[in-house]
Order: sequence, then structure tokens, then C-alpha cells
Amino acid sequence: MSKQKIVVLTGAGMSAESGLKTFRDENGLWEGHDVMQVASPQGFARNPELVLEFYNQRRRQLMDVVPNKGHLALAELEQGFDVSIVTQNVDNLHEQAGSSHVVHLHGELFKVRSTVNENHVLEWKKDLVLGDTDDYGHQLRPHIVWFGEMVPMLETAAKITQMADIVIIIGTSMQVYPAASLIHYAPDQTPIYFVDPRPNIRSSDFNNLTVISKTAEEGVPPLVTDLFNSLL
Ligand code: APR
Repeated sequence: MSKQKIVVLTGAGMSAESGLKTFRDENGLWEGHDVMQVASPQGFARNPELVLEFYNQRRRQLMDVVPNKGHLALAELEQGFDVSIVTQNVDNLHEQAGSSHVVHLHGELFKVRSTVNENHVLEWKKDLVLGDTDDYGHQLRPHIVWFGEMVPMLETAAKITQMADIVIIIGTSMQVYPAASLIHYAPDQTPIYFVDPRPNIRSSDFNNLTVISKTAEEGVPPLVTDLFNSLL
């Protein structure tokens, strides 16, 4: 019998207990930054050094953090289910925890790409500065989807979500589109579990929603245990 498909949609809250800032909580990443200055094509055109340094700082920080119990529990889930992680996060903590199918909607900090050809992507773990170019002499930029840019993986993510038997949403304020629209691709009767200490969702919006008002480390491992028990 084929395994049930579980689709897990994660946001910055998934990595909070690993020590990475979220965006919109107090003292969040966007505090003290003008999003359009550091996370938009216009900002990169206006002041590329500022943008490159913003992502260099985040990339350096990522070298020092490890997956938390929530990431590890999701990786374990693959023992009994066909799991796809669709993340808004640009860290690699799901992969580090052992999840084998991770779709990054907003790009990846440990990758860079040509400013001319978005499909020319390179692994990159050190600082990126002006003058770092691809083999054709084109400046490299963070492989991050900036505000106002298309989300190339959206269609893939939507198709995956449409096939879900179970959807789990963890640590996202559901404020950024199109990522936040993915929940609407889940088939009607699909059970949806929403894990967030300050959930930003209306139960009345969905007929099969369970809200778990806990952090990822508190809420995900017990949920994974319950899902395994449902297989017995
Ligand atoms: N465990 C689970 N959830 C948490 C935790 C935690 N320990 N700590 C905070 N949260 C929740 C918050 O309650 C909030 O709902 O995580 C969510 C974080 O929301 P945001 O900071 O808005 O992050 P996110 O939803 O991922 O932002 C989406 O916005 O700026 C863009 O591209 C950026 O991918 C990002 C997108």
C-alpha cells in the first residue's frame, strides 16, 4: 500500500528555536531594516553592497545553527509517510535534519545565482561581494526570491499540496503571498494541523483544521507521534 502523503508548509517560526530570527515577531529581522532596501531588486540596484552584506550576515549566522527537535521530528516522519516539505525559509535546517524532499519557495542562503541567468545557480557558503562573478563575468547575487519577484517553485508547491492526504503548517504568519495561498490548494477534506504559539488563522476558514498553539519544538514531536500511532 502506498504511504499517505504529508505536506508540511513551514515558515520562520520553524527555525526560531534553532536561534534564527523570525521576520515579524518583536526584534524580528525586518525591524531596523527597510525590506525594500535589503530584499528587493530595486534595493539591490540602488545599493548592492548593503544587500550583499545583509545576506552575508544571515549566511554567516547560518553556519552556527543546527536543526531543532521540530526539524528532526519532521525528518523522522519519512519512516511512515511520503513527506514533502514546502518551506518559505532560506536556511538548510530541514535538509540538515534529514528531510529528503524540501521545496524552497523563497530560495536558499547557501546558494547564489547569476544576475543575468536565474537558472545559473551555484553553492556558496562564504561572503558574496561585488566583483564575485559567474564564469561569464556576470555579477552573482543571493539565490533568494526578493519582494516583487516571481516565485518559480509555486506551481510545484501547489501541485504537491493538491495531492496531500494531510497538511501540517508550522511557524508562519501567513502574511506573505503567494506562499500563504498554498493552504487553499489542499483537498477539501484534508486534515490541516497548524502549529504556532500565536496562530494567525481562523478555524472557521477551514473545515478540518486543528490549531496547536505551541512552538515547533513543543508541538511537532507529539504531533508526529500521534500520526505514527494513527498508522497502528
Ligand atoms: N515555533 C513555531 N512558530 C513560531 C515560533 C516557534 N518557536 N516563534 C514564532 N513563531 C511564529 C510566529 O507566531 C509567527 O506566526 O512564526 C511566525 C513567523 O512569522 P513571520 O516572521 O512573518 O515569518 P514567515 O511567515 O515565515 O514570513 C514569510 O516573509 O519576509 C518574508 O520571505 C520572508 O519567507 C518570509 C516570509
